[in-house]
Amino acid sequence: MSKFAELTLDGKTYQLPVIVGTEGEHAIDITKLRDMTGYITLDTGYKNTGSTTSAVTFLDGEQGILHYRGYPIEQLAEKSTFLEVAYLLIHGELPTKEQFEVFERGIRRRTLVNEDMRKIFDGFPVNAHPMGVMAALASALATFYPGAIDPNLDPDAINLRIARLIAKMPTLAAWAYKNSNGHPVNYPQNKFNYIENFLYMMFSLPVEEYTPDPVVVDALDKLLILHADHEQNCSASTVRLVGSSQVSLYSAVSGGISSLWGPLHGGANQEVLEMLEAIHQDGGNVDKFIEKAKDKNSGFRLMGFGHRVYKNFDPRAKIIKVACDNVLNKLGVNDPLLEIAKKLEERALNDPYFVEKKLYPNVDFYSGIIYKAIGIPTNMFTVMFALGRLPGWIAQWLEMRTDKQPIGRPRQIYTGHTKRDYVPMEQR
Ligand code: SDX
Repeated sequence: MSKFAELTLDGKTYQLPVIVGTEGEHAIDITKLRDMTGYITLDTGYKNTGSTTSAVTFLDGEQGILHYRGYPIEQLAEKSTFLEVAYLLIHGELPTKEQFEVFERGIRRRTLVNEDMRKIFDGFPVNAHPMGVMAALASALATFYPGAIDPNLDPDAINLRIARLIAKMPTLAAWAYKNSNGHPVNYPQNKFNYIENFLYMMFSLPVEEYTPDPVVVDALDKLLILHADHEQNCSASTVRLVGSSQVSLYSAVSGGISSLWGPLHGGANQEVLEMLEAIHQDGGNVDKFIEKAKDKNSGFRLMGFGHRVYKNFDPRAKIIKVACDNVLNKLGVNDPLLEIAKKLEERALNDPYFVEKKLYPNVDFYSGIIYKAIGIPTNMFTVMFALGRLPGWIAQWLEMRTDKQPIGRPRQIYTGHTKRDYVPMEQR
């Protein structure tokens, strides 16, 4: 039996359909609201507004639940691999052995990028932030593969575009890192698997035979799984909105990279490390920084804390915190920043300000400590987030395009001057 919401405006009552998701989420469908009433709704920041239905990821902020295509993140982080999770997010099901082999081979064979892309690196200043480089190069892929601007959704052509993007992003990311150090780039070695190849391109030095550390490979694989999708977050919504004009997947993902770069979004993982280092330099007095974060006038926020949706523990943060201890112990790394992070968390979770506002550690709070332990520099942390989020962006884009969703074009309420006549300058 369909449910309705009743809305009474100017003495007239309207019925708006209620839709219920497979996990019991409820929404009032306002698709026809303006036609029916002449009214629109207003929700700056979309805190209460659903932009779409989706079957990709489910999260429950109150319960701290995160499922990719129905599979709990805890099980995927423990038992799956990043490329298998990428297939799951994009195609909707866990792959058979044969399906995975085709998917993985299609990526492994496309890790090289056009040599002319290397020339683009020469145009960046040596201290160019790698996220700025990645946003530019992701969009540039559409110029190297002009077929990608074809808005038709031929499945083979789409799968080729997806394979190219997943294959080339680690190469471009590693080259952005090498470029920022003024080092020569390493070309992909397809004897390695996806994660090993990235680590090889990042850290292999001339003459040395590079052997990826399985502890590092496993840690990175788990981190990328944990970052792979997160329903309609800022960058995924950006990819959907940019993609809704039927621009190429590469350009839509470039928009997502730019959005993720922001300090309130994926850029927070870099900010967390810089915050922990500042606390360490300041003598490790976490209480001082907790008080600063509570002071509205300080302009300081506890980076890596708080979330638009999670009002309980971010399940990813819980997994990464455990992984932190395991990886640092296995690597024999003793990082004082981890102890500072744990003390910060313990103090904040017992402070009324954070408790009342339901501010918990989010995915960015501990991830940087692992990246640092495996040798990834701070300015590459958000690039790591982008590498992880890539399959999620692709899955969200594909769902939006496959569902033939219209171009996104929100309305507004105008609050500026009403009509007035032009006044010549000499009369102003
Ligand atoms: C990600 O959406 C996603 O799913 C994102 C993400 C993903 O996987 O895609 O999970 C990844 O982006 C995680 C978030 C990373 N960002 C940070 O860690 C930056 C620090 N946190 C925030 O700035 C903030 O918590 C947000 C941006 C994450 C959420 O902001 P909201 O939902 O807009 O909430 P808000 O800024 O209005 O804060 C509500 C209140 C405010 O106080 P009041 O005005 O009500 O008195 O909580 C306070 C804020 O001042 N607050 C904080 C705080 N975060 C919120 N106070 C101190 N420290 C913080 N970190």
